[in-house]
Amino acid sequence: MTEEPTANGGGNDPAAGDSNGDGDGSDDGSEGVVRRERFSGGPARGFLSSLAADERIFAADLAVDRAHVVMLEEQGIVDEATAGEILAALADIEDAGHQALPDGEDVHEAIETAVIDRVGPDGGRMHTARSRNDEVATCIRYRLREDLLSAVEATLEARGALIETAESERETVMPGFTHLQPAQPTTVAHWALSYERELARETDRLLDAYDRTNHSPLGAAAFAGTPFDVDRERTADLLGFDGTMDNAMDAVSARDFLVESTAALASLATTLSGLAEDVVIYANKGYVEVDDAYASTSSIMPQKKNPDTLELVRARAGDAAAGLNGLLTTLKGLPRAYNRDLQRAGGHAWRAIDGVSEATEVAAGAIATAEWNDAVLADAAGEGFSTATGVADALAMAGVPFRTAHEVVASAAEAAGDDVDFETLEAAARDTLGESLSAYVDRETIESALDPVESVASRDSAGGPAPEAVAEQIVTARDDHAADTDALDERRTAIDDAVAELQAEVQTYV
Ligand code: ARG
Repeated sequence: MTEEPTANGGGNDPAAGDSNGDGDGSDDGSEGVVRRERFSGGPARGFLSSLAADERIFAADLAVDRAHVVMLEEQGIVDEATAGEILAALADIEDAGHQALPDGEDVHEAIETAVIDRVGPDGGRMHTARSRNDEVATCIRYRLREDLLSAVEATLEARGALIETAESERETVMPGFTHLQPAQPTTVAHWALSYERELARETDRLLDAYDRTNHSPLGAAAFAGTPFDVDRERTADLLGFDGTMDNAMDAVSARDFLVESTAALASLATTLSGLAEDVVIYANKGYVEVDDAYASTSSIMPQKKNPDTLELVRARAGDAAAGLNGLLTTLKGLPRAYNRDLQRAGGHAWRAIDGVSEATEVAAGAIATAEWNDAVLADAAGEGFSTATGVADALAMAGVPFRTAHEVVASAAEAAGDDVDFETLEAAARDTLGESLSAYVDRETIESALDPVESVASRDSAGGPAPEAVAEQIVTARDDHAADTDALDERRTAIDDAVAELQAEVQTYV
């Protein structure tokens, strides 16, 4: 391969990186350095560079470099002394930090330059049998999986807060709404568990995304593999991946793991936005008081206590949806195998995971500290004749066809509004059925159906709001929470073990 002399010289000796000393640039290390000077960007330098944003994957890149160098040495591709020098340089670069990196198109190039600065041309052997294409894909997966586990942890926290709420508010009746109108009485516990169940599925989605993210592209090189005898399983192991990606072209091209992760985060944020909206509405009605730590006041209206944190949780769903859209739009129609557009993909996922994880933690804290106002809730529970369905059910259980029962209760509601009682129902029954209610039910049954507490207690079907039904749901929720906590711990332990193993391997060289 030919090396043109650098156009700009740049003050560097073009042969300085030529380890075999013949000045033809045929050494791995020198070739990249010389050619990079020619293509260092000119006016578009900043536009081309992702170095600042790559701080997010600085530690990941160092881990990937270490695992790769250890593998290259084990495979006899790089000698032990050189591997030791490169690994020592990497330790030094880590200590100096991302800010101290030399200029470069990205963190991968900058770290390599910093290695060569310290080791000399042999430092360039680090990039043997790989490309930045497999390198960056590996770094993103390595970093993202850790962030996904933090998001999983945040969902567990939120679920824990909701389970506690369910436990302590099992008997706290409240109005349930459809179309934002009072519909049927339920309990705060039942409401809380409705979100806990949805969040449990968000946890699952994040864990699924983790499991598909946690495969190693490393060794795919640019996309077409490498003639070097690399051990891809070994680097995957050293980095704590569950395995390697089967196809090298897929390994460098695919960003579906970012789509899946960001979609899971957008779904989580959407679920939380509903929870936040409910709390905003409930706070407005005096059903619940958000703790001062999760509220703020007005700069002009001294009496105000606003549930701002929940409004911001609600808004994060917009950010996450925008991120997912940005990501999909960036990826749409990209041809195989690598295109620089991919450099813009990660940002969408990083912003989504940071924004949504934080929103999840805030929502968890707001729920854990909220005070439910039992008295206000009890008064509100029967508003808008919310027990109407229960009365119709009581008639239907006594043998009236449900549609007819529905008609009887509807006409009572029309006549008496919110003040339906046994007498107004009796009048409606005579009108509609042409017979007395007492042909079907006694007064006590109707009065019980009209009572919000009794109404809730009667709905004891599986998944219903009756306290016994809720008790079963709490058991399930606790079991699932424990299982998902184990799933999280298992994955974190696997990562920690790999980190320790890689560290131990590196120790043997330096
Ligand atoms: N900074 C690049 C990215 O994030 C690294 C890969 C560069 N590869 C290339 N063929 N230019 O995607």
